[in-house]
Amino acid sequence: MIIIVDFGSQTTHLIARRLKEFGVGVQIVNPENAMAKINRFKAGGIILSGGPSSVYEKNAQKVDISIFSLGIPVLGICYGLQLTAHLLGGKVISGKKEYGPTKLKIKNYKLKITTGLPKSFVVWMSHGDEVVNLPEGFKVFGLTENVPFAIVGDIERNIFGLQFHPEVEHTEFGNKILKNFVEICEVTVLKKNFDIFKMEETIKKNVGEKDYVIGAVSGGVDSTVAAALTAKAIGKRFIPIYVDNGLMREGTTAYVKKIFKEIGIEPIVVNAAGEMLKRLKKITDSEKKRKIIGNFYIEIFEKEMKKLKMKNISVKHLLQGTIYSDVIESQGTKNAAKIKSHHNVGGLPKKMKLKLLEPVRNFYKDEVREIGRLLGLSEEFINKQPFPGPGYAVRIRGEVTKQRLAMEKKADKIVLSEIQTAGLYPKVFLSFPVMTNAFSTAVKGDGRQFGEVIAVRIIESKDIMTSNWAKIPYDILQRISSRIVNEVKGVSRVVYDITTKPPATMEWE
Ligand code: XMP
Repeated sequence: MIIIVDFGSQTTHLIARRLKEFGVGVQIVNPENAMAKINRFKAGGIILSGGPSSVYEKNAQKVDISIFSLGIPVLGICYGLQLTAHLLGGKVISGKKEYGPTKLKIKNYKLKITTGLPKSFVVWMSHGDEVVNLPEGFKVFGLTENVPFAIVGDIERNIFGLQFHPEVEHTEFGNKILKNFVEICEVTVLKKNFDIFKMEETIKKNVGEKDYVIGAVSGGVDSTVAAALTAKAIGKRFIPIYVDNGLMREGTTAYVKKIFKEIGIEPIVVNAAGEMLKRLKKITDSEKKRKIIGNFYIEIFEKEMKKLKMKNISVKHLLQGTIYSDVIESQGTKNAAKIKSHHNVGGLPKKMKLKLLEPVRNFYKDEVREIGRLLGLSEEFINKQPFPGPGYAVRIRGEVTKQRLAMEKKADKIVLSEIQTAGLYPKVFLSFPVMTNAFSTAVKGDGRQFGEVIAVRIIESKDIMTSNWAKIPYDILQRISSRIVNEVKGVSRVVYDITTKPPATMEWE
């Protein structure tokens, strides 16, 4: 097994996932009990993850320096490399900050760690500090324009460090580097697959023989796959609830009804669009919006549960389609920084006394899609773009008014239809406009107009943790821009968002 010491990186779980995909046993552990776990699990390799701290800070997380003398191969990634350098006598400073893609050149590609790599390829960075002096015995195997120590190592002791993130989808040959490290570790490699039967058994065991489960469904992949698994396990004792909050894409309510018909269960549909807008009145802060929407859902669920109770239906569990990226971005692991409150993570009040059922919590988006396929859900559904739980509310910077919501919906329809017509829908992960709350001048006809700027964001990603902006042909961007400024009243101009994640999140809020 390989032990991953978690210093709070957003992508620690991704490192684990990559290794699991190779069939390697993995444990993620905290720095303070790393040594005990390494001994207990007889680790064949150690990976030190990235993390938000700086090694030279007073309270920076460290590991017992003796892990470097156990004779077990060590790979430090980002903070993990900096910590390795710092502990073994090198020097780390607050350097040039660097986020996103950069070109890496391999200096020595005849080593085990660099086997099979081309001379140059793209890697993704996300760091503010850098190593400026290497510890004794360390050599450079790869560098970038800004980082002279991008791949380093001490071959004698099998200790390696990477300044970039090999685990993220957009780092080319990232998997190859991790695989090379696994080979250096000489650990046992098994085959992994998804066991639907086992997942169903777990749900049955958690729910018991008689209890009912309610579940928030949105028509999105995550909640529907979670719902389909639960329906398969306990049949009609699962009651899906869909809240039409008016912030979803047009046609979503009909879509939800259709997909649940396929699954064989009829959802309760609650129409709450008017009340939702009232509650969002004058609210401009994005976190507040999320909280208000989350609390409103809870209220609705409480009401629906009372109704069910009157029919003598005892609901003890709440199903949520939480997936792993939600958990990480809402600070679900001990040392990770909080990015935003995805409203479906940990947002339920204790007084509801409902136990959470989250059958896809440990999976990434593409894995959830794979489970959906195994459950027989249609390809059209599996490939549907994700849509945030709080819907258009997080795509409208500032107050969500009826008028701005209508503008956002109209622009969204244009972006979607153009992407579909161009045959790009299956190739991009998300495509949407953002009401930026910035204003600019336009000349329409012969008159001056001061209208809102819409940003179009079209991105490529598989597992949500990283994304690249899509290189959409200019003529399609031109059509999107012209149609939005012409057809959506009150819009003065359209800009295209060309920011990668990291550093920018996919949504603007
Ligand atoms: P970010 O913006 O965090 O988006 O890079 C990653 C994925 O999550 C979706 N998203 C949300 N989903 N509640 C949700 O259920 C939220 O508050 C929320 N915020 C973002 C986003 O659309 C993308 O698919």
